[in-house]
Amino acid sequence: MIPGETLAGLGIGATDIDHVGIAVRDLDAAVRHYRMVLGAEPVHRETIESDGVDEALFAVGGSFVQLLAPTGPDTPVGRFLERRGEGVHHVGYRVRDVAGALEHLREHGVQLADQHPRRGSRGTTVAFAHPKGFAGVLVELVEEGSATEALGEDEQ
Ligand code: CO
Repeated sequence: MIPGETLAGLGIGATDIDHVGIAVRDLDAAVRHYRMVLGAEPVHRETIESDGVDEALFAVGGSFVQLLAPTGPDTPVGRFLERRGEGVHHVGYRVRDVAGALEHLREHGVQLADQHPRRGSRGTTVAFAHPKGFAGVLVELVEEGSATEALGEDEQ
């Protein structure tokens, strides 16, 4: 096996890094700083109430840097900031099929945070895997667009 060679069809089928999520305390301040260091405007901004986060996305090539601020202290990102401070919160892998990727991880005993795909920002479909399965880093699987129609009513 050559390092970096893919075992076609055997993994989560990641096609790219979709985004790197960075937890910050003050989103506006972090956006001003990232505008300066990256020399670019954010391409997207959204509040995801169900996840308790405000996010801003900067495009870098075909991937994003996602700045995440909690909507309150008793949220996953709020608790992360309390425990670990600002920094890398998760890595988002772009996949063709979130449901299939999730099933692959489940079959191989990788601990999941989400049992089913759900709605993410920008109209994506996402699911989180537990940090234990990825060397201590929370992992998000991200599928572009339309699969949201396949999600059940309880996912609304
Ligand atoms: Co994310």
